[in-house]
Amino acid sequence: MGIKRIGVLTGGGDSSGVNAALRSIYVAASQKNMEVVGILEGWRGLLTKNVVPLTEANTSEISHLAGTIIGTSRTNPKKIDQGVETIWQSLKELHLDGLIAIGGDDTLGVATYLGQSGLPVVGLPQTIDNDIFGTDYCIGFDTAVNEATKAIDCCKPSNLSHRKDMIVEVMGRENGSIALVTALSVQADYVIVPERPFHLEHLIDTLQAKKQKGKKSCLVVTAEGLELSEYDRGEAVDAFGNRALEGVSRELARVIMAKTNWDFRVQILGFIIRGGRPTTYEIQNSVEMGHYAVELLAKGELGYLVARQGGTLAKVPLEDIGGKKAIAPKHLLAMAHSLGILGV
Ligand code: F6P
Repeated sequence: MGIKRIGVLTGGGDSSGVNAALRSIYVAASQKNMEVVGILEGWRGLLTKNVVPLTEANTSEISHLAGTIIGTSRTNPKKIDQGVETIWQSLKELHLDGLIAIGGDDTLGVATYLGQSGLPVVGLPQTIDNDIFGTDYCIGFDTAVNEATKAIDCCKPSNLSHRKDMIVEVMGRENGSIALVTALSVQADYVIVPERPFHLEHLIDTLQAKKQKGKKSCLVVTAEGLELSEYDRGEAVDAFGNRALEGVSRELARVIMAKTNWDFRVQILGFIIRGGRPTTYEIQNSVEMGHYAVELLAKGELGYLVARQGGTLAKVPLEDIGGKKAIAPKHLLAMAHSLGILGV
């Protein structure tokens, strides 16, 4: 009979580019006479049957907007009593023949699980962290690094005027891509990423050498995922077992200043980098990925993640990405090291 009515949901941390993907999904599906239903607030919307039809009216002016018009949450139906059963019941009552799940590995993990039990599902990779295995690119990353660059550009003149150093902390969980690409683009003096061990002495020696050559204000970019023995993150986790990581940079500044007479400012960019207008590349990628997802569903090619690989789109079995994480690109790590801004 084919797929006639699909649901789409966005789960986990939002990122810019999602709305462009939603618009693209709506347009591509309409071309194939499919209806699209927006499921509100991630998996929670399937537990409560909280949905809204996607239409020309509510999708036509959204592609340039950050966030997600259908809302998101970190709801994990597998951790809720009768959660999975409720989702199957909702899918039936809402007459949904297929689902597009947009999110990071938590959201896609639930999609994989439901797909294995027979749900016609396709996933889109979306997280500013760019840490989904099997794809070179996740929706949100380009905008996030663009926003981080802009924010640091705003801090630099004041740092220089006051002859102060600064540590900027960016999101990314255990992946240092945001920190690395941002550091390269603002020409930071040092970058710290979870993919490489952190050596305090190397950081101090590197900045010391620059100061001796006359540098008046040094900039360090650190990923939030830096593990410092002095820093206790606490035990709290979300429904998917993720710890809150933000805050390590304050401790890092304290540790550096205890060994030097430098005066560090700390700037945690936090959600600033989630909220920017999607870049042109972001929108283009989201349009392509959304279109491809509908094509896969229409052709009955199910259980795949839409992935970008070497510039083109590909499909990767959702089962192949579970339990794995992408790390920052090795060639960029190597380049940062050869530029002297990253330890071994
Ligand atoms: O996973 C995306 C992300 O932005 C991470 O970089 C960050 O650690 C986390 O979300 C923040 O989560 P929350 O939105 O729950 O505070």
